[in-house]
Amino acid sequence: MFRKKSMITVLTVGMVLSSGTVYAQTTSPANGQSDTAFDNKIIKKISADNMYNTIALLSEQPREAGTEGEVRAVNYIEGQFKSLGLETKVIPFPIYDYLTKHVWVKIDGIDLDGTAPRAFSGSVSGKVTAQLVNVGKAKPEEITDAVKGKIALVERGDLTFVEKVQNVLEKGAVGVIMYNNVNGNSFGQVSEGQNIPAVAITRAQGLALVDQLKSGPVESTLDVDIEKIEKTSYVVEAKLKPNKNKDTGQIITIGAHHDSVHGGPGANDDASGVSAVLELARIFSKTPIDTEVRFLTFGSEERGLVGSSFYASKLPKSDVERMVAHFQMDMIGGRDAGEDNPAGGLIMYTIDGKKNLVTDLGSSAGARTMDVAIPYGQLGRSDHQPFHELGIPSALFIHSPVEPWYHQPTDTIDKISKEKLQQAASIVGAAAYQIARPDTPALVNAHVAPGPVDYDFDDRPVD
Ligand code: BES
Ligand code: ZN
Repeated sequence: MFRKKSMITVLTVGMVLSSGTVYAQTTSPANGQSDTAFDNKIIKKISADNMYNTIALLSEQPREAGTEGEVRAVNYIEGQFKSLGLETKVIPFPIYDYLTKHVWVKIDGIDLDGTAPRAFSGSVSGKVTAQLVNVGKAKPEEITDAVKGKIALVERGDLTFVEKVQNVLEKGAVGVIMYNNVNGNSFGQVSEGQNIPAVAITRAQGLALVDQLKSGPVESTLDVDIEKIEKTSYVVEAKLKPNKNKDTGQIITIGAHHDSVHGGPGANDDASGVSAVLELARIFSKTPIDTEVRFLTFGSEERGLVGSSFYASKLPKSDVERMVAHFQMDMIGGRDAGEDNPAGGLIMYTIDGKKNLVTDLGSSAGARTMDVAIPYGQLGRSDHQPFHELGIPSALFIHSPVEPWYHQPTDTIDKISKEKLQQAASIVGAAAYQIARPDTPALVNAHVAPGPVDYDFDDRPVD
């Protein structure tokens, strides 16, 4: 099912919304050209062949963050931006791998038997011997001062591992033993800077310790040796500056992630998004604009949005205040993804499940260019998240449901559809151009989305 353009509220000429924005007028007051004529300035130039060739090249080898494959991709991407005359920057940031040498847990001097304990990823090395204190699930109200200088026995659940470790750390604990809330061992990640050894044990082991503590003090030794290996990953930034005499002072960002999972060629995830970023950069760089357009590709998305989070954390406040929209493209070329409609089952996901400027523009662009009011839904899982957290209207453009080869070694070029690439790049290109083209006024308030556009929330399962 898809919705037709006729069901959309298309705003008419010169309709200025409460935020002071004209965003979906059918005719420009400036020169009488229709939005469709403006759309065509972008979408007629999009070459799916260019995009396909980029994906073919990028997916020749995996681009896992911190590997030579990432570096090769980064060099290629930066080279392409440079050849278009954009102002580029390759921004390095550290990522960490943790190699566990040994994890020993002793209870009253005896090695914990059964399933071997595991260290949390990010745990520090160290050897501590202290009494064990049961702190339940390590919610702040459960932790007493008794844990100071002791090892906290924690049950998994309700809070994140990071929160639990932080809570006991703040009360002065010197180590953490966490037992699972389901059968088997638990495992996860703690944060950089949480400087106490943290290990995971099975539920059975944990419950036995809880029992043992009821009949008297228990002494434990944690001996953890983990090698921390620092690697470097990158964000590629390319700025396209507007004409100096006609500059709204605003910035829009168009992004994708260039890293793949370990061993995966990542043709669709997300060489496809990168190919669209490069193609739109090529076209926008030859088109007059009144808004800075920043093209971004992120490393380490697959490790937990590390590159985009780093980039967002380093943005000067003066940039953030000028940023009015972030368009994220991730998995936009999957032959076997999405739905059978003229927009290929494209959907726009926001972090809060609400419409915003980006989804308004995306949906109306879909309606104009292919008669489909692109629906929106709620999902994180990609680099739109850190932009949303900065208060910037953001959305992830993706085909949903995703294909069966998601994160597989079979995510290869032969599964890429040129038609899907063309559709997604057209919608994002036309939507972004609504802001960037010189005849549309600046958005007065970056954080207020204009409305109304009639398009649906779609609770579609993604995988
Ligand atoms: N491209 C995916 C995001 C995705 C996958 C969205 C399937 C919707 C359906 C992205 O590269 C990814 O794999 N993200 C991770 C989360 C991230 C925070 C590590 C994921 O979804 O597991
Ligand atoms: Zn992805």
